[in-house]
Amino acid sequence: MSLADVTFMPETPAHDPEIEAINEEAFGPGRFARAAYKIREGGPHERALSFVAVDGDTVIASVRMTRVTAGAGRALLLGPLAVRPAYKNLGIGRKLVAMALKAARDGGWPAVLLVGDAPYYGPLGFDKVPYGQLSMPRPVDYHRVLAHEIVPGAVAALSGMVDHADCAHAAEPA
Ligand SMILES: CC(C)(COP(=O)(O)OP(=O)(O)OC[C@H]1O[C@@H](n2cnc3c(N)ncnc32)[C@H](O)[C@@H]1OP(=O)(O)O)[C@@H](O)C(=O)NCCC(=O)NCCS
Repeated sequence: MSLADVTFMPETPAHDPEIEAINEEAFGPGRFARAAYKIREGGPHERALSFVAVDGDTVIASVRMTRVTAGAGRALLLGPLAVRPAYKNLGIGRKLVAMALKAARDGGWPAVLLVGDAPYYGPLGFDKVPYGQLSMPRPVDYHRVLAHEIVPGAVAALSGMVDHADCAHAAEPA
């Protein structure tokens, strides 16, 4: 098995059960408690910007993208990204991230955010968001909040609570 044997395609509803199983395997039940999961609960993800990797008829990896806002800024939240254990270290994760970033750029999105490991995502084009710039609806290690800037200034425009774009955070009354 090599990367050349894997097919990459946009996600469709038919992929949902297998994607759920991949995420269960990768993240376990603890995934429901994660900050990024809470944000994603606010509305649908963008299927046209989300991709799967397929071996034959079997989905072996997935990346999803969700519209979010933070203050005056908007972005896509990348994740979950997960690869079936038997298919790790073939470059599938990297390829899915590259496809998601290209789709974001082609779609005119200004930035892509994620919560993840800087050693993995740094070489893929993500930098740490300055500590204190963003808040998440659940506890998170803010050193793992990373952004890929597409339009200059787009990451600086993100501030405060990150919400699903369909349920933007209502400011607390003064
Ligand atoms: C992280 C994950 C998506 C990587 O997918 P993959 O297809 O195996 O990764 P790739 O083949 O593109 O890249 C492999 C390289 O990344 C490195 N890598 C994998 N996970 C890493 C991590 N968490 N931190 C740093 N490097 C990592 C590997 O050591 C390997 O390095 P090498 O190229 O120097 O040998 C996959 O391991 C996975 O599904 N993990 C469980 C779920 C998860 O943690 N998702 C990320 C959420 S933030």
